[in-house]
Order: sequence, then structure tokens, then C-alpha cells
Amino acid sequence: MSTRDETILLAGGTGQLGSRILRRLLDKGYPVRLLVRPGRTPPVAGVELVEADLADARALDAAARGAAAVISALNGGPEVAVDGQLALLAAAQRQGVRRFIPSDYALDYFQLDYGDNVFLDYRKRVAEAVEASGIDHTFVLIGGFMENVVYRRLDFAKNRLAYWGSGDEPVDMTAIDDVARLVAEAIFDPRASNRRLTFAGEVVTTHGIAADYQAVTGRPLELQRMGSVDDLRQTIEKTKAAARSPLEYVFAQYAWAQLSQKGKLRTLMNEEYPQIRPLRLRDVMAQAATPSAGRFDAFYASGTPPWDIGRPQGAFLALAEAGALRGRVLDAGCGTGEHALMAAARGLEVTGIDAAARAIDSAITKAKSRGLTARFVVGDALELASLGGQFDTVLDCGLFHVFGDEERARYVESLGAAVAPGGRLFVLCFSELQPGTLGPRRVTQAELRAAFAAGWRVDTIDAARIETVDGSGAAAWCAALTRIRGLPSGSDPS
Ligand SMILES: NC(=O)c1ccc[n+]([C@@H]2O[C@H](COP(=O)([O-])OP(=O)(O)OC[C@H]3O[C@@H](n4cnc5c(N)ncnc54)[C@H](OP(=O)(O)O)[C@@H]3O)[C@@H](O)[C@H]2O)c1
Repeated sequence: MSTRDETILLAGGTGQLGSRILRRLLDKGYPVRLLVRPGRTPPVAGVELVEADLADARALDAAARGAAAVISALNGGPEVAVDGQLALLAAAQRQGVRRFIPSDYALDYFQLDYGDNVFLDYRKRVAEAVEASGIDHTFVLIGGFMENVVYRRLDFAKNRLAYWGSGDEPVDMTAIDDVARLVAEAIFDPRASNRRLTFAGEVVTTHGIAADYQAVTGRPLELQRMGSVDDLRQTIEKTKAAARSPLEYVFAQYAWAQLSQKGKLRTLMNEEYPQIRPLRLRDVMAQAATPSAGRFDAFYASGTPPWDIGRPQGAFLALAEAGALRGRVLDAGCGTGEHALMAAARGLEVTGIDAAARAIDSAITKAKSRGLTARFVVGDALELASLGGQFDTVLDCGLFHVFGDEERARYVESLGAAVAPGGRLFVLCFSELQPGTLGPRRVTQAELRAAFAAGWRVDTIDAARIETVDGSGAAAWCAALTRIRGLPSGSDPS
């Protein structure tokens, strides 16, 4: 175990933000010890791994021993965000750690009341304990991650953004990598001692986002007003009363805390860190607006995307178990390859194609580690003919619903060229029954029938769920189609 004076213990270093913090700490030459759950493999070579259960005080003591600082980028329910972090704090105190940074990276929750935001309530409880502990600490407050707006709220296919409020409320935002750089700068900075560090990449408004969008894409952004900030609060309360999980309303609570200005950063300390020239929202937007390859690669680069659940979707697993997969199989938009590998495990000849090179790298690694044979290709699903040959079964999990109208027609044509007569296509896509606007565009049964009206027979469209990493899932359609024998693409009037 490393014992250098600057050793940093990082918890949550495999996550979306934590992995960036890890990279930035290593760039600055700090020895990093990564606290991971038992059984994890190191995300980066040359990093010291310490396996510890957050409920195991002795293991946490061993992890914190000799560390000069502890950084938490943990995320999870109260057992992790509160109990886990308090256990980490206690171990840091016992081991004489010099600086503790809890997992905040949020808007100014110190100004919120308990009940305003369920996840930030966890942060408040930990902050109270950190302040009471006497340990030297830094709270890192940065508003919202820019990537949340760009990758989760902006609809690039429809040029649309749903918003609450007047459109002129100032909101603090910072790119994830800039948060990581700030943490790496602050960790041993004496000026950050016992301080709430407030930093924002940019303060933006909804109207400003629309102007940036036009500048970056050349297209106007249609702003869909959902109601006032008070309406948002009422919607939250109503949702909360019937909710089965806080995930159904907590993101609206973040939006409310920002738009109501209750969680607004009152002063910014950006000038104390001139070495960080933060990305503006339009820079992050420009990365996302590049063709889908760049957009989806960025999703994988910034952590585990919501759909990447590390196992086949239940709806597709059921198809495989029912014997619906046969012949040459194509997994279109395969991501990190779970469905292609599910087919490979059944002895089928399988190809997976995805525009995101990072996802394909992971799929290849998974195939190797599972001892399975599958062909994985970085490529464009709108040009499936380039794969050569035809397929008997095509699986599309979450690809159809990413396309705008024009691309959708090209995709159906591309599928027509790649599927042998009599071949089957299975599509799992978001349905219009999924509430809200978060995530990809919703698809109706009528849209599915219209898209495949020529050259295909729609066999069944069943209600299903798309499972997500956070467990909340989304309402979906699982459609089964057959390529009609002998008809060239687009010529079948049925
Ligand atoms: N301001 C914003 O807009 C914004 C947006 C997103 C996040 N955040 C904040 O940033 C922080 C990090 O979030 P994130 O999105 O990077 O989270 P994330 O991607 O979900 O990563 C969570 C990390 O916590 C680890 N973890 C979870 N449960 C654990 C357990 N029981 N034992 C050990 N490790 C555990 C995970 O390890 P595994 O890899 O083993 O699961 C992972 O490394 C959080 O405080 C979050 O609230 C802020």
C-alpha cells in the first residue's frame, strides 16, 4: 500500500464523475488509492485498489490508513450516500486524514430546506456531520452538470426543449470534467480549507440555451413551456404523493431548486482557479451535436449510460428463451453487446454494430472475457448494407427511437437491405406511455406500423419495459416484424 504524504483515497472512482476525478488526480501526479466494492476490477492500470464494504469499519480504516485526503464521489441511496459516507468520514477521522471532500458536486443545498430535494437531504445530513467532526473539509458546489441538459433534456432529433419558468431564470452549470479538475486543484489547496467552494462553468438561461443551440446546429430550438416555477413545485408534490420511488420526482426537484433560485450559487470563486478555463454550455452542445457517433460515444465516455444495464433486456431475453432468434443475427445499435452476446451464447452467428467506438471496445472485451465469438463493428446503422450479406434475425434495442423522421425512413430502408426475405426484426423502443420528456423520443404503435408499412409485416406489438441502470425503467413497445418475402424494399403496398 502506498504511504506517500499525498496519497488520496478516492471512493466512487468508477462512476461518471469519480472516473474523471481519478484521471485528473493522476494527471497531477498524486498517488491514488481507489476504494471499490469487493470484486471490482481496476478501471485504470497502476492504481492501487482497496476492496471494502462501506459497512465494514475495519476495512475502511485499512483503506484510509496513511491517506492524506479522502474524496468521495459516491452516489446511491441513503445506505451509500448517508451511511456509507458517514462511515468513510469516521474512518478518515480515526486515521488522521487531513482533508475530506464529500460527494456533493451540486447546487447550493445549504440554502435548501429538508424536504426540498430527497437526494440533497442526504448531502445535508452528511454536511452537518462533516462540519461537526472538525475534520478539514471542502464542499464542492457547482450547480448542475452541463451534460444533463445536453444529453438528457435537449432533443436533437426534434430540435426541442421542454422547460419550466419564464426562460430567463439564471442557472449555474459546469461540465463534468471541469468539476473533476476543480476537485484535483482544491484537494490540497489551503484556501479551500473548511470552505464551500462555489464554481460554475457558466450561468445560463433557457433562452440562452436556445440561442446557443441555434448557433451550434444552425437550427432553431422549439421551446415547450410546461408551466411556471410554482406549477413545477405543485407537479412535484402531486407526483410525490403517488410515487413509488424518489426517482420519479427528484430530477424535477433539482430543476425547481435551480429555477426558484433557492439553490443558486450566490458568489462564484472561479477567479481563484484561473488555471481552469471551463467549457461553456455551447462547447458541450457542439460535442453532442456532431453526428450520432460523437453523441453516443460521449454518453459512454461520461460513465454508464442509463440503458447499459450489463445484462440483456428482459423483453429480449424472453424472445431468446422462446427460441425466436435464429440463423444469422444482427444486433443493430448493440452498445456494449449484451444482446449480441446473448445470441452468441446460444451458438448463433452474430454481428453487433454501433456508432460508438467506446461501446464496441467494451463489447469486444466482454466477448473475450466470456469466451464467446461475435463480430463487433463500429459503423452506421443507416448503412447496414455495408456489413455485407443478409441477416435472419435483427435485434434493435433502443435504436429505432433515437432517429428523427428523416433518419427513421433511412433506417427502415437500411434494414430492408440487410434482412433476408422471411427474416424477423424485433424492436424495443420507448412508448408514448412513458411520462415526461426525459430520455429519447416516444414512439406510438401507429408510428411503428407506418414506418414498416412497406416491405414488412407487423406481427405483434406488445407493451414492455426498457430496464435502466437506476432501476426505474421506462414504458416501451416490443414489436415483432417479418420481412415480406420477395419484395424489394419500399415496393410492398400492404
Ligand atoms: N450536479 C449535478 O447535476 C450532478 C449530476 C450527477 C451526479 N452528481 C453528483 O456527483 C456525485 C457522483 O455521481 P455520479 O453520477 O458520478 O455517480 P455514478 O456514476 O452513479 O457513480 C457512483 C459511484 O459510487 C459507487 N458506489 C455506489 N454504491 C456503492 C457501494 N455500495 N459501495 C461502494 N461504491 C459504491 C459506484 O461504484 P460501482 O461502479 O461499483 O457501482 C460508483 O463508483 C454524486 O454526489 C451525485 O449526486 C451531480
